[in-house]
Amino acid sequence: MGIVLRGWGSALPEKIVTNADFASRLDTSDEWIVARTGIRERRFGGSTGTLAVEAGQRAIDQAGIDPATIDVVVLATTTPDQVMPATASYVQEQLGCGGGAMDVNAACSGFVYALVAGAGLCEVGAERVLVAGADVMSRITDQDDRGTAILFGDGAGAVVLERVEGPGKLLGWDLGSDGSLRHLLSCDAGGYTQMNGKEVFRQAVRVMVDSCSKTLARAGIAPADVTLLVPHQANTRIVSAACDRLGIPMDRTALVLERTGNTSAGSVPLALADAADNGRLADGDIVLLCGFGAGMTWASAVLQWGA
Ligand code: ACO
Repeated sequence: MGIVLRGWGSALPEKIVTNADFASRLDTSDEWIVARTGIRERRFGGSTGTLAVEAGQRAIDQAGIDPATIDVVVLATTTPDQVMPATASYVQEQLGCGGGAMDVNAACSGFVYALVAGAGLCEVGAERVLVAGADVMSRITDQDDRGTAILFGDGAGAVVLERVEGPGKLLGWDLGSDGSLRHLLSCDAGGYTQMNGKEVFRQAVRVMVDSCSKTLARAGIAPADVTLLVPHQANTRIVSAACDRLGIPMDRTALVLERTGNTSAGSVPLALADAADNGRLADGDIVLLCGFGAGMTWASAVLQWGA
């Protein structure tokens, strides 16, 4: 058994927050934020549940399937709407999906973790799995802390996985965690995100390169054969440093962070949906997804595009 990716969708709240909005009340500037991060604006608003439902509905519509045929909803998020129940249960009910529902928390690596978990569910018998990543990072970010406020935004993305006979289109994956680095990036219940930016930056480049290299080696694919790298949208400089080391040119990456900021678990599926919507993917293309974040966790997966 294997999987194919049948549909995709994304969702962003309406409210745009520009760098100038931060510069008007914090000791920062548009020039600093663009030069250090690549971010120009981000979106604030909605809830994790409403954004995931919007993205999930688009993915279901595009796949042209009956939502009742979805056996499991797997929602990656760091910002569930409630401690319990899982926000996935809200998504399941709103979309009319059949079967089970669960949340996965692996911070910004969450969507790729959920994708691999969804593929595993298909291996053991699920026909279809809705995999979503959604976060409302504005809720857990101190908007008066210039070191973190400028980085994060809200958003969601989703895909429909479908089980097929044969090897399917997930060609390789790697999931990892180093819990001894938990202190680098964390948020206590009811608190705000705390981060050692410099060290997260350094580790992010390292784990992105290691994880992508492992995944490609497992699939027997050379970096030169990657059509599109869809990285976690944290910082253009992280992506560029990792691309240099991997030997993947920057024009073969999907980047939306200029408009979205870091949307945590929403970031990889948002960038994937944007690339697919803009005709950057054709049947047979090799797509490498990579996430990294708090934990630290990291995750990558290589897919062949097309049903
Ligand atoms: N505007 C102006 N100055 C700033 C700002 C700001 N918004 N933020 C920090 N500075 C200052 C600092 O105070 C520091 O001043 P000092 O030299 O007087 O002490 C100076 O700029 C340089 O700070 P650095 O931290 O060295 O700046 P750096 O180039 O490392 O950029 C950044 C900071 C953008 C946070 C970078 O380290 C980064 O992107 N790190 C990775 C963060 C990340 O990806 N986090 C998410 C991971 S995914 C997840 O799971 C959520």
